[in-house]
Amino acid sequence: MTLVNLNDVLLDAKKRSYAVGAFNFTDISTARGIVSAAEKLNAPVVLQFAQSHLPYMSLEEVGINAIQLAKKASVPVVVHLDHGEDVATAMKALKMGFSSVMLDFSLKPFKENVKATKEVVEIAHDLGASVEGEIGVMTRDDGEGMPDYSHLTDKYTKVEDAKRFYDLTHVDALAVSFGTVHGIYREKPHLNFERLHEISEALPIPLVMHGGSGLSDEEYRESIKNGITKINYYSVMSFNVVNGLRDYLNARRDKQTFLYDCDMEVIRLVEEDLMKKIKIFGSTDTALVAK
Ligand code: 13P
Repeated sequence: MTLVNLNDVLLDAKKRSYAVGAFNFTDISTARGIVSAAEKLNAPVVLQFAQSHLPYMSLEEVGINAIQLAKKASVPVVVHLDHGEDVATAMKALKMGFSSVMLDFSLKPFKENVKATKEVVEIAHDLGASVEGEIGVMTRDDGEGMPDYSHLTDKYTKVEDAKRFYDLTHVDALAVSFGTVHGIYREKPHLNFERLHEISEALPIPLVMHGGSGLSDEEYRESIKNGITKINYYSVMSFNVVNGLRDYLNARRDKQTFLYDCDMEVIRLVEEDLMKKIKIFGSTDTALVAK
């Protein structure tokens, strides 16, 4: 199919209560694995690249390769900048042809978040692209004594803030905080489905889950039931692929192994991991109606 924006895939997901997988990549093999997992299940997909990963690939490399992959794909693919940290980078991505960007000013004051997001929304909509914003605080568990989960409840997105933010910016999708964190959970997360449901009832746009790694199948399903239509998932896939590659290399100790053998194995491992997620998210066979 082709390059599409978030509205092209998330509005149907919201209407029919499933979620589109949004998967991060930092190299071409992973990007290929993401698209081919979606193709194998006839599912739309968000191929996303986080600004914090720019040390591993330039925006130009990401843009050229991801847009080309999307255009050749047999399913709708959104090429999305994840966690855009400044307006200039979001604008650069839009001008390069990304079909979607996220501006994450969630840690900045509300007014500043609104002003910057609105600026990006105006340009993006003129170009036919979509924008994801974020309201609420999402932390990261990087194994360095972070975080104390008991404080997280204070940081959940408030319904009034989400509504006010949408009214002022007209973002196409909103990332909300209801108990997920980026990275690996060291304790069981406490997801506030009630709050998520209230936000979903108050807003006409699709809601986004960040920190999709480490949840149970039931937690994914319950999140979708309560309004999540885009699930960002990366860390667990990344660890599963690295572990799989280690096993692959150990099993081939006595054989000649070229770099392209590793690339092909990475593609296979990414596909294997993401196909399981796409099935749980319920987006299998939704590609034709998504556009
Ligand atoms: P995880 O790495 O926790 O799955 O989160 C991914 C994410 O939210 C990217 O924006």
